Amino acid sequence: MELRSHQWFAEQGRNGFIHRSWMRNQGFSAEVFDGRPVIGICNTWSELTPCNAHLRRVAEAVKRGVWQAGGFPVEFPVMSLGEPLLRPTAMLFRNLLSMDTEESIRGNPVDGVVLLSGCDKTTPGTIMGAASVDLPTVVVTGGPMLNGKFRGCDLGSGTGVWQLTEDLRAGRMTPEEYLDAESGMSRSNGHCMTMGTASTMACLAEALGLQLPGSAAIPAVDSRRYATAQRAGQRIVAMVGEDLRMSRIVTRASFANAARANAALGGSTNAIIHLLAIAGRLGIDVTLDDLDGWARDVPWLVDLQPSGKYLMEDFYYAGGLPAVLRELLPVLDGDQLTVTGRSIADNVATAPRYGEVIRPYAEPLGVGAGTAVLRGNLAPDGAVVKQSAASERLLRHCGTALVFDSIEEYDAAKDDPELPVDADTVLVLRNSGPRGYPGMPEVGNLELPKRLIDAGIDDVVRISDARMSGTAYGTVVLHVAPEAAVGGPLALVRTGDRIELDVPARRLHLDVPEAELARRRAEWRAPEPSYDRGYARLYVDHVLQADRGCDLDFLAGGSGSGVARQSH
Ligand code: FES
Ligand code: MG
Repeated sequence: MELRSHQWFAEQGRNGFIHRSWMRNQGFSAEVFDGRPVIGICNTWSELTPCNAHLRRVAEAVKRGVWQAGGFPVEFPVMSLGEPLLRPTAMLFRNLLSMDTEESIRGNPVDGVVLLSGCDKTTPGTIMGAASVDLPTVVVTGGPMLNGKFRGCDLGSGTGVWQLTEDLRAGRMTPEEYLDAESGMSRSNGHCMTMGTASTMACLAEALGLQLPGSAAIPAVDSRRYATAQRAGQRIVAMVGEDLRMSRIVTRASFANAARANAALGGSTNAIIHLLAIAGRLGIDVTLDDLDGWARDVPWLVDLQPSGKYLMEDFYYAGGLPAVLRELLPVLDGDQLTVTGRSIADNVATAPRYGEVIRPYAEPLGVGAGTAVLRGNLAPDGAVVKQSAASERLLRHCGTALVFDSIEEYDAAKDDPELPVDADTVLVLRNSGPRGYPGMPEVGNLELPKRLIDAGIDDVVRISDARMSGTAYGTVVLHVAPEAAVGGPLALVRTGDRIELDVPARRLHLDVPEAELARRRAEWRAPEPSYDRGYARLYVDHVLQADRGCDLDFLAGGSGSGVARQSH
């Protein structure tokens, strides 16, 4: 088999001279050009993405493995996206990262790729980009932080922030104590150690077959993280020899496996959007209803925050994802191929499970507790709610809407002691979808109104076209499609309207007669676009709605790895 890197490095004339000569300035000896596989290490390292700040060290471990197996490793940077700092939301730039990744791979002389990611958007963003090129690809996530610790107890990333902030607002905690918790929560390298979006996507990359078995859960600072990275480096060289491309590994059945794993994990709602987007790049038909159907009867097995009580370190020591997949084998397609060159079933056949963090299939924490897809006149194209993170008593609920047109409007009102809310109120937030915000930020889990906190109420139904952090909880209906900013019915809700939520029946209904809705629709005016140039303009003009994964419309599918024309 002719490797694609030969087009660059084996060329004998002027272009080959150029390709090799400049690479030699890094001090490589001539053997690196002897026809061995060239492995690109695609790195989302950045000090502005704290969750990925250690990835250069992970890259060194991957390189060891590549050299060991006879390959030539070359590390390159792509845009890094960190949840904590990036405005207006990292999600706005997931597709930009995917474009960066795609073109960086295709335009360069690499035969196989290792994707280094961690923080929420970096895993799906790099996978989407690599999928559109379709070379042999292995994912190595950076691993979670050690469990947060505060006042002698565990403190989970994100989840702890929501809880402590509520304690602070309720006067149960002093501002000094609140500050103390900061360093206790984030005390090592790594991504959020709850089952937030980063941990979820790391696990789903493994469930899709793209990450070595057992890798997802290893803490970032555990020596075994570096050993697995080295193994990934060895393995990608072999995968090039086997021509084991991403499209041979990730099939429609792999998405079913990933959706089922997500339900068992109590994983993030954001996974729904990312799985749809990845499927779109591979040209695999996966719908919102497929994801709901696949997950519906799957037992919830993993007792991690925000749905449960433990954290990722505990999950790793309990056996990690292989233990979960082994329990789930009765409902998985175990024949799916993975980056090991073996099937999922083979990979996990003897995976051990310790303690109670991961429950056996027959003794779940719940059944059908995953992310449900709702429909109705308020969400004709769907909305989602994470059942394991919601309150049982609110899963069937009818209440009066209190509507906010922006998160800023809500934040200005939430502490008002006169805010007209009670335990039955349905808080509605709009203009926070992909086009409206833009970028569909994680603001859907509105903090509870102070008035309700003071009354001891710990949850109300919230509905929005936004997302929420994978670390968040509550009876929060998200991803309403179409979003308000494109004229979805969410734009027509008025304070005082009755809204019915029936999660078991998968229904979200606005109890307003169609004639009245038609009248409101005629009055509705689209909000002024907030960006007139740059990437945000491109995004707003082309982003698909949440039910189609929020990719840009022209990025669906792939262009393969061929580039016919020379650069000189
Ligand atoms: Fe990066 Fe949570 S903020 S993973
Ligand atoms: Mg998050």
